[in-house]
Amino acid sequence: MTGTRKVLITGGGTGIGRAVAEALLRAGGSVVVSGRRLELLAELTASFPGRAFALTCDLTSASDREGLLARARQLLGGLDGFVHSAGVVMHQPPGHIDEASLREQLEVNLVAPLRLGEQALEVLEPGGGMVFISSTIAHRALLTSAVYSAAKAGLLQVMRSLALAGAPRGVRASSVLPGVVDTDMVRTLRLAPGEPLPSEAERATRLEAQLERLGALHPLGRLGRPEEVADAVVYLLGAPWTTGAELVVDGGVLLRE
Ligand SMILES: NC(=O)c1ccc[n+]([C@@H]2O[C@H](COP(=O)([O-])OP(=O)(O)OC[C@H]3O[C@@H](n4cnc5c(N)ncnc54)[C@H](OP(=O)(O)O)[C@@H]3O)[C@@H](O)[C@H]2O)c1
Repeated sequence: MTGTRKVLITGGGTGIGRAVAEALLRAGGSVVVSGRRLELLAELTASFPGRAFALTCDLTSASDREGLLARARQLLGGLDGFVHSAGVVMHQPPGHIDEASLREQLEVNLVAPLRLGEQALEVLEPGGGMVFISSTIAHRALLTSAVYSAAKAGLLQVMRSLALAGAPRGVRASSVLPGVVDTDMVRTLRLAPGEPLPSEAERATRLEAQLERLGALHPLGRLGRPEEVADAVVYLLGAPWTTGAELVVDGGVLLRE
């Protein structure tokens, strides 16, 4: 990794964000992890005193978002990387998309990364990098993900504008587009609209089937692991002549018709 060692990671308490934080810490970097659930952030920071810090933040709140990057810079004594891994998906087909889900998905997946990216332009040191976790779903139709897909596709355009804006100072912005990765986000049973929650035993069986079905969609035959996406993020953070890039890490799923 060239130079990028002090990094703020949203969604850093779980899944891909946590794997990014752990990879950076293993490589000798220092991190601020952000999310709503302090207990998850504290699990990580407790193992790396002096090199890992937690900042709680609800990314749907403009006042929580305000100054987040400056606070991270203060904690770390500088900031040369920003990773937006926080994200939320609610599977609802058109006709069943409720207003609160729509607003939350747009706020966390699109508005927050734009606003935090603007902060990053001001706060990141020259040569620093931002990485936004988009999704292969930005490029594919899925019946139940109109809002999530729109937000993740919009995020790619946000990333490109930030890349242009940051270029004169050498500040870079890119995206990673994962296929389906085995995290909490995917380990949530997808129910049909109005379907009551099944019994615990039935939930477990159906969830296993769901994971198997999702894994089989990928030509490489399985779900991704958070660490496999984290490797791509760490690469982009430290790639000095790469900006505006979309790095697909998807087990080949975009090869499918
Ligand atoms: N897993 C996949 O298959 C997959 C595929 C493509 C893209 N992605 C993207 O990858 C990123 C990471 O997701 P993941 O798979 O690692 O799932 P995850 O474990 O569910 O992570 C989502 C993170 O977002 C944070 N978050 C959600 N709402 C928030 C809010 N209002 N304010 C602050 N933080 C919030 C959560 O922390 P708190 O709940 O503690 O706030 C959590 O740490 C997301 O952007 C997701 O869209 C995932």
